Amino acid sequence: MFSTSTYIQRRRELAAKVGSGIVLLLGNDESPMNYADNAYHFRQDSTFLYYFGIDFPGLAALINIDSGQEILFGDDYTIDDIVWMGPQPTMVERASEAGISKVLPSAALSGLLTQAMQRSVPIHFLPPYRPEHLLKLQALLRLHTDTILPKVSVELIRAVVSQREIKSGEELAEIDRAVDLTVDMHVAAMRMARPGMTEAQVAARVYEIARAANSEVSFPIIATINGQTLHNHYHGNVLKSGDLFLLDAGAELPSRYAGDLSSTFPVDPVFTPQQKLIYEMSLEAHQAAIDALAPGVAFREVHLAACRSITDNMKSLGMLKGVTEEIIAAGAHALFLPCGTGHMMGLDVHDMENLGEVWVGYDGAPKSTQFGLKSLRFAKSLRPGHVFTIEPGIYFIPELIDKWRAEKQHQEFINWDEVNKFRAFGGIRNEEDYCMTAEGPRRLGTKVKPKTVAEIESEKNLNMEC
Ligand code: GLY
Repeated sequence: MFSTSTYIQRRRELAAKVGSGIVLLLGNDESPMNYADNAYHFRQDSTFLYYFGIDFPGLAALINIDSGQEILFGDDYTIDDIVWMGPQPTMVERASEAGISKVLPSAALSGLLTQAMQRSVPIHFLPPYRPEHLLKLQALLRLHTDTILPKVSVELIRAVVSQREIKSGEELAEIDRAVDLTVDMHVAAMRMARPGMTEAQVAARVYEIARAANSEVSFPIIATINGQTLHNHYHGNVLKSGDLFLLDAGAELPSRYAGDLSSTFPVDPVFTPQQKLIYEMSLEAHQAAIDALAPGVAFREVHLAACRSITDNMKSLGMLKGVTEEIIAAGAHALFLPCGTGHMMGLDVHDMENLGEVWVGYDGAPKSTQFGLKSLRFAKSLRPGHVFTIEPGIYFIPELIDKWRAEKQHQEFINWDEVNKFRAFGGIRNEEDYCMTAEGPRRLGTKVKPKTVAEIESEKNLNMEC
């Protein structure tokens, strides 16, 4: 937790931004795997953490903006709970660390909300993303589940996004630490991967490094020789000579701040000439995106800079043809980059995605519906304090190639015979984490992940010597 005053100040700002009514924030509950006492590892709701800092299940809070009263709802452990799980701070102690003086049992929440509704006081709540919250909101607010989403508070979403999107110095220090731990995870994978191992062995080592630092992973580890699948969580393959390995993994510190990096490296000590060619093209796109970063520049332009680089390079290989801007406007380049160049990061690896991409990444403006561009999660103008990933990739997805070819999509721009020569190539992604400052972009973390061909080959060969 940060200092008590941090949470008091955040809630004060939230109340001022929302203006009036009652803010209802739900913490997360335990989530059973197969019976109640056998739960997945607990993950607190990030907005609840941001305003209260309490990483404990079963809580809720009300902020009455008009009266200034703040109440934390939750139940102390019974002696049975303590026998099973050990002693815990009391609710009053937890509330006091968050700067809250009034605590009530969970059962009191419903009555207070009913009184407020009888007085027609607006109740602001966020979109639920867990089914138990949908059920709780249904019961607390006497709403049918179908009517809950239309009634979420846009004022509250906008207020939360406006605060959480600008990271403070103490948050940036945590994110730097998360990125450093993430670099350790990637370097270990780069060093160990070799023919005969399994993807699962590499993934296990990556997870071990996070756990040994009393941390978690910020999302399920992607450790694969099939990097053309964007979010491949299968770890059952054996690594073979000639394979490229894609690792996309991040640490989540005890404070819950995330890191998120991707690396692509050969299973062998060196890249093949074809791997080196495409890898260096992916790095050029990565650098084009970084070169476009500046305060006030829309992240959409950063994405388009990466698209231009990939398009020009695919033209140089004869896979695309025509005028670069026309290819991009039509979306034909998305055959190789069917996703966005980055997303915000913070307490969530895709920060605040549960609040809605249109509010988080677009300030309420509509998103594109075009294949490729529709997957850009973050498009708005960069401001000091924004934290985001840079992760353009080059992917050869046989199923997409075959579908577009059969449908004659973008055939004026695509040379299918040349594309087909690379259909078994796989996929490449490099990812780094940045924050924007008033002076320009800063790469997050103090450790540097090997990125160039020479750096990666040297890291792998270092290991072979020991
Ligand atoms: N790096 C994982 C993700 O962005 O989903």
